[in-house]
Amino acid sequence: MARVLVLYYSSYGHTSQMAEAVADGVRESGAECDIRRVPETAPAEIVENFGFSHNENHPLIEGPDALGNYDGVVFGAPTRFGRLPSQMASFLDTCGGVWASGALIGKPGAVFTSSNSQHGGQETTLFSMITNLLHFGMTIVGLDYGFEGQNGVDEVKGGAPYGATTIAGPDGKRQPSDTELAGARYLGKRVGTTAAKLAS
Ligand SMILES: Cc1cc2nc3c(=O)[nH]c(=O)nc-3n(C[C@H](O)[C@H](O)[C@H](O)COP(=O)(O)O)c2cc1C
Repeated sequence: MARVLVLYYSSYGHTSQMAEAVADGVRESGAECDIRRVPETAPAEIVENFGFSHNENHPLIEGPDALGNYDGVVFGAPTRFGRLPSQMASFLDTCGGVWASGALIGKPGAVFTSSNSQHGGQETTLFSMITNLLHFGMTIVGLDYGFEGQNGVDEVKGGAPYGATTIAGPDGKRQPSDTELAGARYLGKRVGTTAAKLAS
């Protein structure tokens, strides 16, 4: 059975909810799925003053080498100034050994994000992570247009061919919508299915 890792960072829970939806999709495909967080690296006063909180139901990643134990990895992180946050970048910067060993070459990789505004940098954030995945040699799985929910302007919604997304709104109070969670599940299912095929 294929094993997929969902690895994410979240300050306010949106990306964490998306991670659970991605994992649901992976499991729907018949693959196994673990959810892990990357460590917080912001100074304690920032964490406190800005009210960051972490979903303790999701264990911290055991270390960079753990990535090699999986047949596919889905990375999620909220937008920071139109690119990935330092917490995820910091973890990725410890992955030199994983890169050197080629442990992820050919394995499916995908990404998801959250931002406050609709055009505040979701696609650039997705690509800032995809760049890293390509350096690992991963085969990128996008949120293809088989997920029809990303089309249309009938409602405010995230979702892009480059990955699953949600919009938290200007005050961060908006929660992932049913459509956005469905996009995350679709992406997870595609990664699970692809991981099984590539691992066989
Ligand atoms: C330092 C900082 C920079 C941010 N930059 C952006 C940005 O460029 N565009 C945007 O729409 N939201 C931006 N945000 C809002 C975050 O993307 C938002 O809090 C996040 O998507 C919520 O996801 P989370 O609940 O998983 O943390 C920023 C937030 C912080 C703290």
